[in-house]
Amino acid sequence: MPKTVDGFSKLNKLEKIQWLVSAFFNNDEKVTKVLMQYWNTNKVLQDLHDDFIENTISNFYLPYAIAPNFIINGKEYAIPMTIEESSVVAAASLVAKFWSTRGGFKARVISTTKIGQVHFMYEGDKESLKNYFASKKEDLLKVTKEITKNMRKRGGGILNIELRNKTAELENYYQLHVTFNTVDSMGANFINTCLEAIAGEFKKDTTTSFVQDIDIVMSILSNYVPECLVRAEVSCNVEDLYAENSEVLAQKFVQAIQIANAEPHRAVTHNKGIMNGVDAVVIATGNDFRAIEAGVHAYASKTGTYKSLTNATIENGIFKFWIEIPLALGTVGGLTKLHPLSKFSLELLENPSAKELMEIIAVAGLAQNFAALRALTTTGIQKGHMKMHLTNIIKQLGASEEDKAFLIDYFEHKTVTHNAVVEAYERLMQDK
Ligand code: MEV
Repeated sequence: MPKTVDGFSKLNKLEKIQWLVSAFFNNDEKVTKVLMQYWNTNKVLQDLHDDFIENTISNFYLPYAIAPNFIINGKEYAIPMTIEESSVVAAASLVAKFWSTRGGFKARVISTTKIGQVHFMYEGDKESLKNYFASKKEDLLKVTKEITKNMRKRGGGILNIELRNKTAELENYYQLHVTFNTVDSMGANFINTCLEAIAGEFKKDTTTSFVQDIDIVMSILSNYVPECLVRAEVSCNVEDLYAENSEVLAQKFVQAIQIANAEPHRAVTHNKGIMNGVDAVVIATGNDFRAIEAGVHAYASKTGTYKSLTNATIENGIFKFWIEIPLALGTVGGLTKLHPLSKFSLELLENPSAKELMEIIAVAGLAQNFAALRALTTTGIQKGHMKMHLTNIIKQLGASEEDKAFLIDYFEHKTVTHNAVVEAYERLMQDK
């Protein structure tokens, strides 16, 4: 049986599965069952999911959880999180409760500018290009008027178009650097549509043959959005931070961030922990986590060295901990209202604006980093992690509720490893 196929997309869902199972699984019926058990019996819902992408054969579930008790700018939130990693939601919930008794989180959006670029090559005289751009700028804006009409009604649109000379970086390379305000939408389609119209107009000139020398390479938004920035922060008296030894432990917490700033190997893991919180809410609200990831890590490297996204200080007995991250998010358009669960997430957050969602997600990231650094600089993270891991292993073993309770109790003060749990379970079964 060949493992390549023509016209796969034209097969229906069951035919696609049948082809896969015969080509890769020796016609094993169990495989078909695994895939089909996730088909939703609600046809409307299933059709909706099938149509999100191409060649769908099943649904891939991830847990959807809630981290309650967040206070952000004085408002209470229960934050939805979609993530498979144990401990992340538990950590968020604990940290939310912790800071709710210490004034809560403060967050504010610093700026909301998004960027798109028309990249082009031009070998001719620089001054002539500058003059051509200056004479053309109004037309470039005019050609997008129809596309930006609704966005302008909502207070957004194109902020500016600049000609940028990038020939120092790459021979003959220039760009039209366009800035946007896309209000409550992430705006990827809007930006790309505007850029393509701008590129078309830039190449169009009936009065001169000058445009022959302009060679457009591509028009595309940038996921690097250092000016779509949000800051979230917590602070308290140092003595209110830990039950005991607060001054010393707070210092260690600050040192953990200094280490991340000095050492990219640590910074990457440090920021990964932040993204545990960020991505979980980004996914739960139907936003594009790949765009967010790419933009955030580029921002972490903006000085030329990859650094921590968070910072902390202790000054005059006050501990202050904050994050600044770029987040290009939407609360309208895309998947946000199309996926019933992202729609629910936004309803749960009381239909926030994109700005408010930026604040909520920055807080989710800060909370995760707080949990990670507090654990790492005190007990270590394995204790909490392994507790969740323990329940996963017990589940895999197919233990009854009674046996599960016994094993959780048994491992209360013992080190959890996969082998240790399996052995304890086997002993328990033998004793029965
Ligand atoms: C694990 O997913 C995240 C951590 O490694 C983050 C960190 O080390 O700061 C715990």
